[in-house]
Amino acid sequence: MEETLQALKQQAAELIKGADALPKLQEARVKYLGKKGELTALLKGLGKLAAEERPRMGALVNTVRQELEAMIEDVQSKLEAEVLAAKLSTEKIDITLPGRAARQGHVHPLTAVNEMIEAFFMKMGYTVAEGPEIESDHFNFECLNLPADHPARDMQDSFYITENILLRTHTSPVQARTLQSQEPNSPVRMIAPGKVYRWDYDATHSPVFHQVEGLVVDKGITFSDLKGTLELFLRHIFGEETKVRFRTSFFPFTEPSAEVDISCCMCHGEGCRVCSHTGWLEILGCGMVHPEVLRINGYDPNEVQGFAFGMGVERIAMLLYGIGDLRLFYEDDVRFLKQF
Ligand code: PHE
Repeated sequence: MEETLQALKQQAAELIKGADALPKLQEARVKYLGKKGELTALLKGLGKLAAEERPRMGALVNTVRQELEAMIEDVQSKLEAEVLAAKLSTEKIDITLPGRAARQGHVHPLTAVNEMIEAFFMKMGYTVAEGPEIESDHFNFECLNLPADHPARDMQDSFYITENILLRTHTSPVQARTLQSQEPNSPVRMIAPGKVYRWDYDATHSPVFHQVEGLVVDKGITFSDLKGTLELFLRHIFGEETKVRFRTSFFPFTEPSAEVDISCCMCHGEGCRVCSHTGWLEILGCGMVHPEVLRINGYDPNEVQGFAFGMGVERIAMLLYGIGDLRLFYEDDVRFLKQF
Protein backbone atom coordinates (compact mmCIF):
# COMPACT_ATOMS: atom_id res chain seq x y z
CA MET A 1 0.00 0.00 0.00
CA GLU A 2 2.79 2.35 0.82
CA GLU A 3 4.25 1.96 -2.67
CA THR A 4 0.85 2.55 -4.25
CA LEU A 5 0.58 5.70 -2.20
CA GLN A 6 4.03 6.94 -3.22
CA ALA A 7 3.32 6.16 -6.92
CA LEU A 8 -0.02 7.92 -6.70
CA LYS A 9 1.56 10.93 -5.05
CA GLN A 10 4.13 11.16 -7.81
CA GLN A 11 1.55 10.89 -10.63
CA ALA A 12 -0.70 13.44 -8.96
CA ALA A 13 2.20 15.85 -8.42
CA GLU A 14 3.13 15.60 -12.09
CA LEU A 15 -0.40 16.23 -13.22
CA ILE A 16 -0.84 19.17 -10.83
CA LYS A 17 2.43 20.84 -11.71
CA GLY A 18 1.83 20.24 -15.41
CA ALA A 19 -1.57 21.92 -15.35
CA ASP A 20 -1.31 24.99 -17.58
CA ALA A 21 -4.88 26.17 -17.13
CA LEU A 22 -7.40 26.23 -14.30
CA PRO A 23 -9.77 23.60 -15.81
CA LYS A 24 -6.89 21.10 -16.02
CA LEU A 25 -6.02 21.71 -12.39
CA GLN A 26 -9.62 21.16 -11.47
CA GLU A 27 -9.53 17.86 -13.38
CA ALA A 28 -6.48 16.74 -11.39
CA ARG A 29 -8.16 17.67 -8.10
CA VAL A 30 -11.21 15.56 -8.96
CA LYS A 31 -9.08 12.67 -10.18
CA TYR A 32 -7.18 12.31 -6.89
CA LEU A 33 -8.97 14.21 -4.13
CA GLY A 34 -12.58 14.09 -5.28
CA LYS A 35 -15.25 11.91 -3.69
CA LYS A 36 -14.49 9.18 -6.17
CA GLY A 37 -10.82 10.17 -6.44
CA GLU A 38 -7.94 7.75 -6.26
CA LEU A 39 -6.58 8.99 -2.93
CA THR A 40 -10.05 8.99 -1.44
CA ALA A 41 -10.41 5.38 -2.57
CA LEU A 42 -7.16 4.54 -0.82
CA LEU A 43 -8.40 6.14 2.38
CA LYS A 44 -11.56 4.09 2.16
CA GLY A 45 -9.42 0.95 1.71
CA LEU A 46 -7.73 1.48 5.10
CA GLY A 47 -10.40 -0.67 6.70
CA LYS A 48 -9.01 -3.73 5.02
CA LEU A 49 -5.62 -3.29 6.69
CA ALA A 50 -4.53 -4.90 9.86
CA ALA A 51 -5.57 -2.85 12.91
CA GLU A 52 -1.96 -1.96 13.89
CA GLU A 53 -1.21 -0.77 10.34
CA ARG A 54 -4.20 1.52 10.13
CA PRO A 55 -3.11 4.60 12.19
CA ARG A 56 0.27 4.88 10.48
CA MET A 57 -1.15 4.41 6.97
CA GLY A 58 -4.04 6.73 7.79
CA ALA A 59 -1.61 9.45 8.84
CA LEU A 60 0.47 8.83 5.74
CA VAL A 61 -2.50 9.14 3.38
CA ASN A 62 -3.56 12.32 5.13
CA THR A 63 -0.10 13.83 4.81
CA VAL A 64 -0.09 13.05 1.12
CA ARG A 65 -3.53 14.57 0.85
CA GLN A 66 -2.36 17.76 2.58
CA GLU A 67 0.74 17.94 0.40
CA LEU A 68 -1.32 17.58 -2.76
CA GLU A 69 -3.81 20.16 -1.55
CA ALA A 70 -1.04 22.64 -0.84
CA MET A 71 0.44 21.91 -4.24
CA ILE A 72 -2.91 22.52 -5.94
CA GLU A 73 -3.36 25.78 -4.05
CA ASP A 74 0.09 26.89 -5.15
CA VAL A 75 -0.49 26.12 -8.80
CA GLN A 76 -3.98 27.62 -8.59
CA SER A 77 -2.79 30.97 -7.31
CA LYS A 78 -0.05 30.95 -9.95
CA LEU A 79 -2.58 30.27 -12.74
CA GLU A 80 -5.02 32.84 -11.36
CA ALA A 81 -2.28 35.44 -11.29
CA GLU A 82 -1.51 34.63 -14.92
CA VAL A 83 -5.15 35.01 -15.95
CA LEU A 84 -5.37 38.32 -14.10
CA ALA A 85 -2.15 39.60 -15.68
CA ALA A 86 -3.39 38.68 -19.17
CA LYS A 87 -6.70 40.45 -18.50
CA LEU A 88 -4.96 43.53 -17.17
CA SER A 89 -2.70 43.82 -20.15
CA THR A 90 -5.54 43.53 -22.69
CA GLU A 91 -7.89 45.84 -20.82
CA LYS A 92 -5.28 48.41 -20.02
CA ILE A 93 -6.49 52.01 -20.05
CA ASP A 94 -4.05 54.43 -21.62
CA ILE A 95 -4.28 57.34 -19.24
CA THR A 96 -1.94 59.38 -21.46
CA LEU A 97 -4.60 59.60 -24.20
CA PRO A 98 -5.99 63.12 -24.46
CA GLY A 99 -9.55 63.42 -23.17
CA ARG A 100 -12.57 63.98 -25.39
CA ALA A 101 -13.46 67.62 -25.22
CA ALA A 102 -17.16 68.41 -24.95
CA ARG A 103 -18.19 69.81 -28.31
CA GLN A 104 -19.75 73.22 -28.19
CA GLY A 105 -22.81 73.83 -30.31
CA HIS A 106 -23.74 77.07 -32.00
CA VAL A 107 -26.76 78.74 -33.50
CA HIS A 108 -28.29 77.41 -36.71
CA PRO A 109 -27.14 79.29 -39.85
CA LEU A 110 -30.68 80.55 -40.42
CA THR A 111 -30.79 81.89 -36.88
CA ALA A 112 -27.40 83.52 -37.39
CA VAL A 113 -28.62 85.32 -40.54
CA ASN A 114 -31.86 86.32 -38.82
CA GLU A 115 -29.84 87.79 -35.96
CA MET A 116 -27.60 89.71 -38.39
CA ILE A 117 -30.64 91.21 -40.09
CA GLU A 118 -32.30 92.08 -36.77
CA ALA A 119 -29.11 93.58 -35.35
CA PHE A 120 -28.67 95.84 -38.38
CA PHE A 121 -32.22 97.20 -38.32
CA MET A 122 -32.33 97.55 -34.54
CA LYS A 123 -29.27 99.81 -34.77
CA MET A 124 -31.27 101.86 -37.28
CA GLY A 125 -34.01 102.31 -34.69
CA TYR A 126 -36.47 99.68 -35.93
CA THR A 127 -38.61 97.68 -33.54
CA VAL A 128 -39.08 93.93 -34.02
CA ALA A 129 -42.71 92.85 -34.45
CA GLU A 130 -44.32 89.44 -34.78
CA GLY A 131 -47.56 88.16 -36.19
CA PRO A 132 -49.42 84.84 -36.24
CA GLU A 133 -48.46 82.12 -38.71
CA ILE A 134 -52.09 81.02 -38.94
CA GLU A 135 -53.57 84.10 -40.52
CA SER A 136 -56.90 85.29 -41.84
CA ASP A 137 -57.54 85.93 -45.50
CA HIS A 138 -58.36 89.45 -44.32
CA PHE A 139 -54.85 90.26 -43.05
CA ASN A 140 -52.90 88.08 -45.50
CA PHE A 141 -54.60 89.56 -48.57
CA GLU A 142 -57.43 92.07 -48.15
CA CYS A 143 -55.59 94.55 -45.90
CA LEU A 144 -52.74 94.46 -48.43
CA ASN A 145 -54.90 95.58 -51.32
CA LEU A 146 -55.42 92.06 -52.61
CA PRO A 147 -59.22 91.69 -52.73
CA ALA A 148 -60.86 88.34 -53.45
CA ASP A 149 -60.36 87.30 -57.06
CA HIS A 150 -57.36 89.59 -57.45
CA PRO A 151 -55.11 87.76 -59.95
CA ALA A 152 -52.00 88.45 -57.82
CA ARG A 153 -53.29 85.99 -55.22
CA ASP A 154 -52.24 83.27 -57.64
CA MET A 155 -48.61 84.39 -57.24
CA GLN A 156 -48.60 82.61 -53.90
CA ASP A 157 -49.80 79.03 -53.66
CA SER A 158 -51.46 79.04 -50.28
CA PHE A 159 -52.26 76.42 -47.68
CA TYR A 160 -55.86 77.03 -46.64
CA ILE A 161 -57.21 75.73 -43.33
CA THR A 162 -60.76 76.94 -43.85
CA GLU A 163 -62.14 79.18 -46.56
CA ASN A 164 -60.92 82.28 -44.69
CA ILE A 165 -58.02 80.98 -42.64
CA LEU A 166 -54.65 80.04 -44.09
CA LEU A 167 -50.98 79.70 -43.24
CA ARG A 168 -49.61 83.14 -44.02
CA THR A 169 -47.89 83.24 -47.42
CA HIS A 170 -45.68 86.19 -46.47
CA THR A 171 -44.83 88.38 -43.48
CA SER A 172 -46.64 91.35 -45.06
CA PRO A 173 -49.79 90.88 -42.92
CA VAL A 174 -47.65 92.14 -40.01
CA GLN A 175 -47.58 95.49 -41.89
CA ALA A 176 -51.36 95.68 -41.65
CA ARG A 177 -51.44 94.45 -38.04
CA THR A 178 -48.82 97.02 -37.02
CA LEU A 179 -50.58 99.93 -38.72
CA GLN A 180 -53.91 98.94 -37.18
CA SER A 181 -52.40 98.70 -33.70
CA GLN A 182 -51.00 102.26 -33.91
CA GLU A 183 -52.55 105.64 -33.40
CA PRO A 184 -53.51 106.60 -37.01
CA ASN A 185 -50.67 108.37 -38.87
CA SER A 186 -48.15 107.84 -36.08
CA PRO A 187 -44.66 106.91 -37.32
CA VAL A 188 -43.68 103.26 -37.75
CA ARG A 189 -40.25 101.75 -38.14
CA MET A 190 -40.44 97.99 -37.73
CA ILE A 191 -39.18 94.68 -39.03
CA ALA A 192 -41.13 91.42 -38.73
CA PRO A 193 -39.19 88.17 -38.99
CA GLY A 194 -40.97 84.83 -39.11
CA LYS A 195 -42.06 81.68 -40.86
CA VAL A 196 -44.18 81.73 -44.00
CA TYR A 197 -45.79 78.92 -45.99
CA ARG A 198 -46.19 78.23 -49.69
CA TRP A 199 -47.04 75.21 -51.78
CA ASP A 200 -43.53 74.70 -53.18
CA TYR A 201 -40.76 72.16 -52.77
CA ASP A 202 -37.43 71.90 -54.60
CA ALA A 203 -33.74 72.74 -54.11
CA THR A 204 -34.49 76.45 -53.67
CA HIS A 205 -38.07 76.35 -52.35
CA SER A 206 -39.42 74.91 -49.15
CA PRO A 207 -43.09 74.83 -48.09
CA VAL A 208 -41.97 76.50 -44.86
CA PHE A 209 -39.42 79.26 -45.07
CA HIS A 210 -38.46 82.49 -43.33
CA GLN A 211 -38.95 86.09 -44.28
CA VAL A 212 -38.14 89.43 -42.75
CA GLU A 213 -40.61 92.18 -43.48
CA GLY A 214 -39.77 95.86 -43.11
CA LEU A 215 -42.10 98.83 -42.82
CA VAL A 216 -41.35 102.51 -42.38
CA VAL A 217 -44.13 105.09 -42.30
CA ASP A 218 -43.77 108.78 -41.49
CA LYS A 219 -44.23 112.22 -42.95
CA GLY A 220 -42.22 112.74 -46.12
CA ILE A 221 -40.74 109.26 -46.55
CA THR A 222 -39.47 108.90 -50.13
CA PHE A 223 -38.10 106.28 -52.46
CA SER A 224 -34.60 107.65 -51.71
CA ASP A 225 -35.05 106.62 -48.09
CA LEU A 226 -35.94 103.12 -49.27
CA LYS A 227 -32.98 102.96 -51.64
CA GLY A 228 -30.51 104.31 -49.10
CA THR A 229 -31.71 101.95 -46.37
CA LEU A 230 -31.58 98.83 -48.51
CA GLU A 231 -28.23 99.71 -50.10
CA LEU A 232 -26.73 100.21 -46.65
CA PHE A 233 -28.27 96.97 -45.45
CA LEU A 234 -27.18 94.82 -48.40
CA ARG A 235 -23.60 96.15 -48.28
CA HIS A 236 -23.54 95.43 -44.57
CA ILE A 237 -24.55 91.81 -45.19
CA PHE A 238 -22.76 91.01 -48.46
CA GLY A 239 -19.74 93.34 -48.24
CA GLU A 240 -18.96 96.96 -49.00
CA GLU A 241 -18.05 96.29 -52.63
CA THR A 242 -21.54 94.88 -53.38
CA LYS A 243 -23.44 96.67 -56.15
CA VAL A 244 -27.18 97.11 -55.65
CA ARG A 245 -29.71 97.49 -58.47
CA PHE A 246 -33.43 98.31 -58.39
CA ARG A 247 -35.69 96.89 -61.11
CA THR A 248 -39.31 97.88 -61.53
CA SER A 249 -41.70 95.20 -60.38
CA PHE A 250 -45.23 94.74 -59.15
CA PHE A 251 -46.76 94.07 -55.76
CA PRO A 252 -50.40 94.98 -55.05
CA PHE A 253 -49.37 96.55 -51.71
CA THR A 254 -46.59 98.82 -52.98
CA GLU A 255 -46.52 101.49 -55.68
CA PRO A 256 -44.03 101.91 -57.22
CA SER A 257 -42.59 98.46 -56.58
CA ALA A 258 -39.11 97.17 -57.14
CA GLU A 259 -37.16 93.96 -57.16
CA VAL A 260 -33.68 94.46 -55.71
CA ASP A 261 -30.62 92.68 -57.14
CA ILE A 262 -27.07 92.55 -55.80
CA SER A 263 -23.94 91.92 -57.84
CA CYS A 264 -23.27 88.18 -57.61
CA CYS A 265 -21.32 87.47 -54.42
CA MET A 266 -19.92 84.23 -55.93
CA CYS A 267 -18.38 85.61 -59.14
CA HIS A 268 -18.45 89.34 -58.28
CA GLY A 269 -20.47 90.12 -61.39
CA GLU A 270 -18.40 88.08 -63.86
CA GLY A 271 -21.22 85.58 -64.45
CA CYS A 272 -21.46 82.08 -62.99
CA ARG A 273 -23.88 79.20 -62.41
CA VAL A 274 -25.33 80.73 -59.24
CA CYS A 275 -26.34 84.00 -61.00
CA SER A 276 -27.27 82.19 -64.26
CA HIS A 277 -24.42 84.09 -65.96
CA THR A 278 -26.12 87.45 -65.46
CA GLY A 279 -23.78 88.75 -62.74
CA TRP A 280 -26.84 89.70 -60.63
CA LEU A 281 -28.81 87.98 -57.90
CA GLU A 282 -32.42 88.80 -57.02
CA ILE A 283 -32.48 89.36 -53.29
CA LEU A 284 -35.71 91.07 -52.15
CA GLY A 285 -38.93 92.82 -53.06
CA CYS A 286 -39.86 96.33 -51.96
CA GLY A 287 -41.71 99.52 -52.79
CA MET A 288 -43.52 102.56 -51.49
CA VAL A 289 -46.51 101.56 -49.38
CA HIS A 290 -49.58 101.74 -51.64
CA PRO A 291 -51.88 104.63 -50.59
CA GLU A 292 -54.73 102.15 -50.53
CA VAL A 293 -52.91 99.99 -47.97
CA LEU A 294 -52.42 103.02 -45.73
CA ARG A 295 -56.11 103.88 -46.09
CA ILE A 296 -57.38 100.33 -45.48
CA ASN A 297 -55.35 100.17 -42.27
CA GLY A 298 -56.48 103.52 -40.88
CA TYR A 299 -53.72 105.83 -42.08
CA ASP A 300 -54.16 108.92 -44.29
CA PRO A 301 -51.91 108.74 -47.37
CA ASN A 302 -52.13 112.51 -47.70
CA GLU A 303 -50.53 112.88 -44.29
CA VAL A 304 -47.88 110.13 -44.25
CA GLN A 305 -45.97 108.00 -46.71
CA GLY A 306 -43.94 104.85 -46.29
CA PHE A 307 -41.86 102.12 -47.75
CA ALA A 308 -41.89 98.36 -47.22
CA PHE A 309 -39.65 95.46 -48.11
CA GLY A 310 -39.65 91.71 -47.72
CA MET A 311 -36.75 89.29 -47.98
CA GLY A 312 -36.21 85.54 -47.77
CA VAL A 313 -33.82 84.49 -45.02
CA GLU A 314 -32.94 81.12 -46.64
CA ARG A 315 -32.05 82.86 -49.89
CA ILE A 316 -29.71 85.28 -48.10
CA ALA A 317 -28.11 82.47 -46.08
CA MET A 318 -27.60 80.34 -49.21
CA LEU A 319 -25.85 83.18 -51.02
CA LEU A 320 -23.86 84.26 -48.01
CA TYR A 321 -22.54 80.79 -47.21
CA GLY A 322 -22.60 79.32 -50.74
CA ILE A 323 -25.19 76.62 -49.97
CA GLY A 324 -26.67 74.97 -53.07
CA ASP A 325 -29.68 73.17 -51.60
CA LEU A 326 -31.99 74.82 -49.10
CA ARG A 327 -33.29 71.48 -47.82
CA LEU A 328 -29.97 71.12 -45.96
CA PHE A 329 -31.17 73.78 -43.52
CA TYR A 330 -33.94 71.53 -42.25
CA GLU A 331 -32.22 68.13 -42.12
CA ASP A 332 -30.24 68.94 -38.95
CA ASP A 333 -27.25 66.92 -40.11
CA VAL A 334 -24.39 67.96 -37.81
CA ARG A 335 -21.88 67.40 -40.62
CA PHE A 336 -23.61 70.26 -42.43
CA LEU A 337 -24.39 72.45 -39.41
CA LYS A 338 -20.90 72.40 -37.89
CA GLN A 339 -19.47 74.10 -40.97
CA PHE A 340 -21.00 77.44 -40.03
N1 PHE B 1 -44.53 90.07 -49.53
C1 PHE B 1 -43.74 90.03 -50.75
C2 PHE B 1 -43.42 88.55 -51.06
O1 PHE B 1 -43.52 87.73 -50.20
C3 PHE B 1 -42.45 90.78 -50.58
C4 PHE B 1 -42.64 92.25 -50.36
C5 PHE B 1 -42.76 92.78 -49.07
C6 PHE B 1 -42.72 93.14 -51.44
C7 PHE B 1 -42.93 94.14 -48.89
C8 PHE B 1 -42.88 94.49 -51.26
C9 PHE B 1 -42.99 94.96 -49.97
O2 PHE B 1 -43.07 88.24 -52.17
